[in-house]
Amino acid sequence: MCGIVAYIGPKDATPFLLEGLARLEYRGYDSAGVAVAGRTGGIKLRKVKGRVADLAAAVPARFKGTTGIGHTRWATHGVPSDANAHPHLDNAERIAVVHNGIIENADELRAKLTADGAVFRSETDTEVLGHLIAAHATEGVELEEAVRAALGKVVGTYGIAVLDAEQPDRIVVARNGSPIVLGIGEKEMFVASDVSALVRYTRQVVHLEDGELATVRADGFRTFTEDARTTHRQPSTVDWEIDSYDTGGYEHFLLKEIHEQPGSVERTLGGRLDERFATAHLGGLNLDARELREIRRVKILGCGSAYYAGEMGAQLIEELARIPAHSEPASEFRYRNPVIEADTLYIAVSQSGETYDTLAAVQEVKRKGGRVLGVVNTVGSAIARECDGGIYLHAGPEISVASTKAFTSTVVAFALIALHFGRIHDLSPADGRRIVSALKALPDQIREVLAQSDAIAGLAAEYAGSEGMMFIGRVRGYPVAREGAQKLKEISYVHAEAYPASELKHGPLALISPELPTVALVPDDELLDKNLTTLGEIKARSGRVLAVAHRRPETKLADHCILVPKSEPELDPLLLNIPLQLLAYHAAVALGRDVDKPRNLAKSVTVE
Ligand code: F6R
Repeated sequence: MCGIVAYIGPKDATPFLLEGLARLEYRGYDSAGVAVAGRTGGIKLRKVKGRVADLAAAVPARFKGTTGIGHTRWATHGVPSDANAHPHLDNAERIAVVHNGIIENADELRAKLTADGAVFRSETDTEVLGHLIAAHATEGVELEEAVRAALGKVVGTYGIAVLDAEQPDRIVVARNGSPIVLGIGEKEMFVASDVSALVRYTRQVVHLEDGELATVRADGFRTFTEDARTTHRQPSTVDWEIDSYDTGGYEHFLLKEIHEQPGSVERTLGGRLDERFATAHLGGLNLDARELREIRRVKILGCGSAYYAGEMGAQLIEELARIPAHSEPASEFRYRNPVIEADTLYIAVSQSGETYDTLAAVQEVKRKGGRVLGVVNTVGSAIARECDGGIYLHAGPEISVASTKAFTSTVVAFALIALHFGRIHDLSPADGRRIVSALKALPDQIREVLAQSDAIAGLAAEYAGSEGMMFIGRVRGYPVAREGAQKLKEISYVHAEAYPASELKHGPLALISPELPTVALVPDDELLDKNLTTLGEIKARSGRVLAVAHRRPETKLADHCILVPKSEPELDPLLLNIPLQLLAYHAAVALGRDVDKPRNLAKSVTVE
């Protein structure tokens, strides 16, 4: 979704702004813009509907300034257009603003500002900020005061960066629900909504808290609250590798991230397995064994793939710890006035840690006195900070819009949680050891699946032209089917349905035809015979079957098969999912799709 960058220092800001915006492209956007203020006075502005490359082409050589702000916009209020792109100016063209988030009382503010003489040039909620800050930036008022006063009138969420032609020695930024990171350089400062934009320039960063503002100058920064109290923030060091932000020789980030999974799973497991007691150490949960024993239910909240990973997590917790567990879309949960129970543990799942629906669900649970843990990839993100404890995935930055390595690491994190809870309850040491060894074997087993990438590409080319695809699985296999269908539809745009295999004959069997092939998850477990019967039913209706299995079914039951190494039954879903990532990737490539930035989607959905 929308991205913010800003620079102040001795150099020309424009090259950083354009490169930083290009680094944020992965988040999804439809227009981009930059504004600079410099020694010659006034604000220079360029903004276009389209890509950052279009913006770069529209920026003339004389577009120079040592202080600047930039933005990639994902349309919410008003269509994608040059006029609606950020930055937005006030009428005197003194103040320029970029904004992520939503101003809820924009209509009311717009009416008031218009009555006072402001002329609006866009349909955006953001433009009210430019006019509002300008209205407070009267003679002798510091920019930070004008911004603070203006934000006092605003209801909504924001991450903003503000430039003032009359005070070009500073940028003022603020955060409320939408991330802002300061990057500390040598006599220069950077700002971004996401560290990936600035990690090439500095590893020293400060993540603003909600309700915090900062005045950023070339030689440092000052942070303060909305009621003007100074805050003291210590910089932290970004430990993600710089090459995580490059495709590293792969054709797409998605393929790179799929292939990174042996390493990312190792990092999620890193130092957390305890062989002696056959359990997992998860100090960040902030719950001791006695508190854990009092938990009667687990409710997992996440959106999209995070929700499906939560479904796998719920099964792991139920099977290993025998605690009833259930996953629910966070986006639905928060709108249904949920009952929050004292003996239920809530777990929020998010790769980005910024998904608005998940954050709002966490806040709803906390407001009602519930306890929430986070399973989050991005360190210091809003959801991580809002939770009472949790686990970081350490999967490394995920750039491609479709989640793969974070999904897998989330399931691994749930296996650790389930093992930890299980060993506090009734999971035997022998079963604990069984799970510990299976977890340790996962990276090599994932490598075995990845080695089949070329063969899977061949299958993807064969199936990609279908009018749609059915994904089926039973019990543990059902969330795998859901995630497989999700991956295929989001990056290849091929329609995909996921059903429990047991439900097929209650309706969707009517769809089966040679034009609608079925991807069937067929693990070698206690439900194998039932799954094979379902394959027979599909074949009897001329359906084509691609089985993802531990053992090749008879050819009369499956047209094709991808073989996956066997883990313990509880962990099999994690490995069965990997070929489905490759299938979706290769189908998307075969169809010529924009694999890393599929249409209409954004990497982190920071609005409702
Ligand atoms: C699917 C996908 C999305 C995200 C969802 C939640 O591949 O990436 O469905 O899983 O938008 O995002 P996070 O995990 O950042 O909260």
